Amino acid sequence: MLLHKYLCPLLLFTALISCNRDTSKDIYKPDINSTTKIASPRELSAGISTIFTATSYAYDSPSDWVTGKLQDRFINGDGLYDDPRTADDNPKTGGKGPLFCGSSCGSCHNNSGRTKSSLFTDGGTGKGNFSSFLTFIRTPNDQYHRNYGRVLHDHAIYGVKPEGKVHVKYTEKQYQLDDGTPYSLITPHYWITDFYMEDIDMSQIEMSVRTPLRHVGMGQMMAIDREELKELEKRQYPEYGISGEINWIVERGQRQIGLSGHKAQHADLTVELGFLSDIGVTNHRYPFEISHGQPQVKGDYGIQISSEDMADVDLYMHSLGVPARRNINSELVKRGEKMFEKAKCHLCHVPTLHTQPEGATLIDGTRLPWLGGQTIHPYSDYLLHDMGPELGDDFSQFNASGDEWRTTPLWGIGLQKIVNNHTDLLHDGRARNVLEAIMWHGGEGDVSRKIFAKMNADDRQALIAFVESL
Ligand code: HEC
Ligand code: HEC
Repeated sequence: MLLHKYLCPLLLFTALISCNRDTSKDIYKPDINSTTKIASPRELSAGISTIFTATSYAYDSPSDWVTGKLQDRFINGDGLYDDPRTADDNPKTGGKGPLFCGSSCGSCHNNSGRTKSSLFTDGGTGKGNFSSFLTFIRTPNDQYHRNYGRVLHDHAIYGVKPEGKVHVKYTEKQYQLDDGTPYSLITPHYWITDFYMEDIDMSQIEMSVRTPLRHVGMGQMMAIDREELKELEKRQYPEYGISGEINWIVERGQRQIGLSGHKAQHADLTVELGFLSDIGVTNHRYPFEISHGQPQVKGDYGIQISSEDMADVDLYMHSLGVPARRNINSELVKRGEKMFEKAKCHLCHVPTLHTQPEGATLIDGTRLPWLGGQTIHPYSDYLLHDMGPELGDDFSQFNASGDEWRTTPLWGIGLQKIVNNHTDLLHDGRARNVLEAIMWHGGEGDVSRKIFAKMNADDRQALIAFVESL
C-alpha cells in the first residue's frame, strides 16, 4: 500500500448525492489542461463514483465521496487487502494457512486488478511467486474430493504439505480472419501432480482454472438494480442466438441473484470466503480452517481476523472509484462504438445500467447511499451466456453450466495494461489481447465473432480502440 495515492487531489463536489438518475450534472474534471472542465456524460463510467485517474492506481483509488470515517475505514481495508498475512499469531497480520493460495488479496489482484496469470509451477506472477490462478476441483459427479475440498491449495505453512501442484501446457493454432490476416489462439491444458495424499487419477477430477477479475465497479455491481437485470433476462435475441440467464444462487440460506465471479456464482464480494479459502485466515463467517478435517493438520486455530476488519475490506472494495473513459472524442473511437453495435457486442456487453435507489449495504450493515440512483456503464448484463464448448470447463455452478460464463464487465479494460502490465483476457487468461478474446467467442457469441472476422482492418482497429477506451 502506498500512501501517496490518497493524497491525490480530491474533486470539489458540492451537491454530492443526487437522487434522480441524471448524474451527469456538475461533475468536474480535475485535469486543468482539459478544454472542458465539466465531464461529458459519456466519460462518466459510474456517475459520482467516476474518477479521472488513468495511472496504475486507476482501479485502486477511492471514489470522491470517501471522506472522514469512511476514509479511515477505506485505508484500513486497503491495508488488510494488500499487506501479506503471516503464518504466526501476530494480532494484526497473523493467521495465514495451514493451506493457502496467496498471502494477500493483492497478490492475485495486484493494484486491485488482475495479476498476470501464471502458475506457481511456472514461476508465479503473484507477489512472492504465488500463482494468481485459482484452481477449483471436483469429482465427475460434482462432489468434493474427500480430503481436498473446493480449491486446490498449492501452498502450505512449514510442516504441512500443499495439496498438490497445478501445471499447464499451451497448444497454439494458426487461423485467418476473412481478409486473410493471420492470428493464433493458444489453448491451455491443465493437470495436477504431487498430491499430498493418495494420487487422484486426472479422469476423476473436473477442474476449472480461473484468473482473477479486475476490481472495477465492485460497489456498483453490488448496488445494481436487480429488476433491470430481470428485464434484461426477458430480452431474447433468437435472430442472433443470444439469450442471457440470471444465475440464481443460494448464499447465507437465501435464494438471490448471483453477481460476482466468472460464473456469477456469488452474491457478495467474497471477503470472508477469500480470507478463509485463498489465504487461510478464519473469520466469524467461516470459523473452521479450510484444512479442517485433513489428516495432516491437527485442530483449528480460532478466529484470526475480526468482523470489523472484514467489513473494512468490504468497504474498501465497494468504494473504489471507477476510471472515466478516455479518448471519447477521437474519431476512431467513435467509429469503433458503431462497430461494437454492428457486431452485436452490446447485446451482452450492455453499455448502460442503473443502480438501485438505496445504494449498497456492506456485510456489517453499513449503508452506502452514494452508490444509489446512478447511471453506470459497465458494458455487461451480468447474465450467463453459453460461450460454446471451446471456452467451457465442465464445471457447473448453480444455474451456470460448464459452457456458461457471466458477461465480463468491460469498464476499465483499456487500463489493464497500465495497471497490471499485461493484456491477458478471458476466464483463464488464454486470450493475449482483445482480438483473441473476440475470436474465442463461440456459442451465443458466435455471431459477434463472425461479424468481427468479416470486418475490414480499419473497422476492426476502430472496434478495438473503442474497447480500449472503456
Ligand atoms: C490466489 C489468487 C487469489 C487471491 C489470493 C484472491 N483472489 Fe479474488 N479472485 C481470484 C480469482 C481466480 C477470481 C475469479 C474466481 C471465480 O470466478 O470463481 C477472483 C474473484 C474475486 C472477486 C469477484 C470479482 C468480480 O468481478 O466478480 C472478488 C470480489 C474477489 N476475488 C475478492 C478477493 C478478496 C477480498 C481477496 C482477499 C481476501 C481475494 N479476492 C484473494 C483470485 C484470487
Ligand atoms: C453472447 C454474449 C456476448 C456477446 C455477443 C459478446 N460477448 Fe464478449 N464476453 C461474453 C462473455 C460471457 C465473456 C466471458 C467469457 C470468458 O471469460 O470465458 C466475454 C468476454 C469478453 C472479453 C474479455 C474480457 C476480460 O476482461 O476478460 C472481451 C474483451 C469481450 N468479451 C469483448 C467482446 C466484443 C468486442 C464483442 C463483440 C465483437 C463481444 N464481446 C460480444 C459475452 C459476450
